[in-house]
Amino acid sequence: MKTITITKPDDWHIHVRNGAVLKTVLPHTAKQFARAIIMPNLKPPVTTVAQALAYRDEILQTLPLRSSFTPLMTLYLTAQTELSEIKKAAESEYIHAFKLYPAGATTNSDSGVADISAIYPLLAELEKYAIPLLIHGEVTDPACDIFDREQVFVDSTLTEITYKFPGLRIVLEHVTTTEAVEFVLAAGANVAATITPQHLLYNRNALLAGGVRPHYYCLPILKRESHRQSLVKAATSGNPKFFLGTDSAPHLTHTKENACGCAGCYSAHAAIELYADAFEQANALDKLEGFASFFGADFYRLPRNTDTISLTKTSWRVPFYYGEDTISITPLKAGEEINWKIC
Ligand code: DOR
Ligand code: ZN
Repeated sequence: MKTITITKPDDWHIHVRNGAVLKTVLPHTAKQFARAIIMPNLKPPVTTVAQALAYRDEILQTLPLRSSFTPLMTLYLTAQTELSEIKKAAESEYIHAFKLYPAGATTNSDSGVADISAIYPLLAELEKYAIPLLIHGEVTDPACDIFDREQVFVDSTLTEITYKFPGLRIVLEHVTTTEAVEFVLAAGANVAATITPQHLLYNRNALLAGGVRPHYYCLPILKRESHRQSLVKAATSGNPKFFLGTDSAPHLTHTKENACGCAGCYSAHAAIELYADAFEQANALDKLEGFASFFGADFYRLPRNTDTISLTKTSWRVPFYYGEDTISITPLKAGEEINWKIC
C-alpha cells in the first residue's frame, strides 16, 4: 500500500464558527493540522483584540482532550477600526493578521469595507507593523459578472494597494483565476496566496452542469477549467508564494440546499486527503509537503512544525453529513469515496 509521510501541515485559512457548529467541525481540523488561521467573520465580526482573545478561549475550550492544535487569530478590518487596535494586535502574540472583506462580497461581510481607499491609513499602519493583510479579492459591483469579480479586483484595487503600500505583507486568499496567479507571481516576496481544495479539484461544471449542486457553491465561485489548471500548476510548482488554505466554511445543510443557498464548501473532514488527491492527479505528490507544511509558516514568520502525519492510499466513504441533533453539515464529496486516508 502506498504511504506518504509529511511534516504536519497547517491550514492558513479556515472558518470554524462558534457554538454548536464549532463543536462539530473543530475536531476535524485539530486532527489534521498543527495550526490554523481562524477567520473573523462571525456574527458580530471579531474586530478587536479583546474579542479575538475571547474567541480563542472558546476554541481552546472546545478542543478535544490532549489536542495540541493552535488557533492563530485574526481581526476583521472595518472602516471603524482604530489605529490603536492595530498597534494592540501587533503587540499580541495571538493575533497574526487582519482580514479585509469588501462590503457585501461574501458570507458575513456586511461590516466589511465599502471604499477601500478610505482605509489607506489603516493599511499604512499594517505595513508599518508588518502585520499580514488577508484579502478576499473580489469586487462587489453588482454590474460585474460574478465570474469576473476576482480578476477585476486584482486589476483595479489590488494593483493600487500594492503600488501604494509596497512593503505591505498580503495574502490574496483563495485565488481562483489565472490572472490572480499571474499577479502573485509578478509581485514581491511580500505577496502570497492560498489555494483551496475545491478550486484545485473542480471547475464550474461541478456546480452547474446537469443540475445545481449547492455544496459546490463558494465564493469566489468555481471558474472554468483553464483557471483550475493554472491553480494546480501554481500549487504544485514548489513556489513558496502559494500555500494551503482550505477556506473550509461550514453552513447548515438546509441553508445551502435552499432557494438562496449560502456560500461555502465544508472540507475540513478530509482536507489534506483532498489536496493529496489533487497533487497526485498532477503527478506532484513530492510537492505537497512544501505547499501544506512549509511555505505558509515561512510567510507568517512562524517556525515549521516538527511532527509528521502519514497518508495511505486507501479509499473510504465520506458520510452524508456531520453533526448531531439540529446540526447537519454536508461535507465536500458527501457519500463519495476519497482515495487517501490519514493513518
Ligand atoms: O464561500 C465562502 N464562504 N467564501 C467566503 O469568503 C466566506 C465563506 C463563509 O464564511 O462561509
Ligand atoms: Zn474564507
